[in-house]
Amino acid sequence: MADKVELRRGLRDVFFDDTQSSNVIGDIGRLIYRGYDIHDLAEKSTFEETVFLMMHGQLPTQTELDAFDQALRSSRSIPSEIIDVITSIQKAHPMDVLRTAISALAAFESEVDDVSHEATLRKGIRLAAQTPTIVAAHHRIRSGQKPLDPDSSLDHAANFLYMLLGEKPDADTSELMGKDLIVHLDHGSNASSFAARVTASTLADLHGAVVTGISTLKGPLHGGAAEGVMKMALEIGDVENVETYLAGKHERKERIMGFGHAVYRAEDPRARHLREGSRTLADKKGQPQWFQILSKVEEHMRPYAERGICVNVDFWSGSVYYLLGIPEDLFISIFAVARVPGYVVQVLEQQDNNILLRPLLNYVGPTDLTYVPIAERG
Ligand code: CMC
Repeated sequence: MADKVELRRGLRDVFFDDTQSSNVIGDIGRLIYRGYDIHDLAEKSTFEETVFLMMHGQLPTQTELDAFDQALRSSRSIPSEIIDVITSIQKAHPMDVLRTAISALAAFESEVDDVSHEATLRKGIRLAAQTPTIVAAHHRIRSGQKPLDPDSSLDHAANFLYMLLGEKPDADTSELMGKDLIVHLDHGSNASSFAARVTASTLADLHGAVVTGISTLKGPLHGGAAEGVMKMALEIGDVENVETYLAGKHERKERIMGFGHAVYRAEDPRARHLREGSRTLADKKGQPQWFQILSKVEEHMRPYAERGICVNVDFWSGSVYYLLGIPEDLFISIFAVARVPGYVVQVLEQQDNNILLRPLLNYVGPTDLTYVPIAERG
């Protein structure tokens, strides 16, 4: 019999490499991007500047930021063939469409197989710019509308909302969406970034790694929770029903979406910014009930904090998207719009100091069975 191995199921508490991009400090609920606290970035930075910080490792000068912003703005268009692909699969879930469209984009990428740092960076900027265009184009097509061309006078967040909803957002709404994208950009060894790193570690191309990330993000235990939270709020319907609804959930031992995290044992620091956004937006839109319902759910879940099950980023983001008029099945795609540049950052880091990611599985099945030909099996 083989020696007993030390198993870390789900790779919990396993460090597999060093990183300089983001630090998730679970016990005290802190998140750092390249040395900067997420609260400072959410309150003072822009999505474009934060993406530059993450991709280049330091904050840009004004000249560097202008050039980076210009590169993003000029890379937003997608080939008409990708619009054709999206049109032909328009009935699929938006994440399946996004995954397929990004995979198809590789065919139009002249540097697809170049895994050098510089080429990955150039492709990463293009992918970061094209992802919102794909998400928005799909939503317009499936709604029977023509996709809107990107508007280069708008910043990344405002242009995304414009292409998606057909109206230029006001400054507060763009700023809120920018904040949402900043807090979702990167998050240590989260499942989808880890999956993207595994792909990159084989020296496969960036598009392949991003497709892996998007496929992994789709799951309800990862990117899909915001959709689940808003579904819950709609099912609750009225603040008076919160207690009974939660009691039923607890009785059936069902998880409450938007709570708990694989690393945080304190409140997810990203939640704060979206809670504020949700409160402001609810008042502005004259729909305070969703904020009230979710606040009461949060209050009732307080005893869970003693077990380290606290509110996470997705608890509030769903209500923000809902109040902006974004359909629930697009919530994960918004997460992806933010996280694609995060995958690029992690792929760059993986490639710059690559090692094939290849852990072991502890085999516990039978050994030395005798092969019986199919005709002789009972
Ligand atoms: N509601 C009720 N109980 C929970 C919850 C929850 N949301 N989350 C964890 N628990 C319980 C779980 O039932 C288990 O209890 P017991 O030990 O009695 O069986 C215990 O906590 C540990 O659960 P676990 O799954 O082993 O813990 P984990 O740290 O691996 O869980 C998680 C992390 C995110 C998978 C889990 O908290 C969860 O399913 N949450 C709901 C989905 C969600 O909101 N996901 C978004 C995560 S943040 C966005 C992102 O980064 O993707």
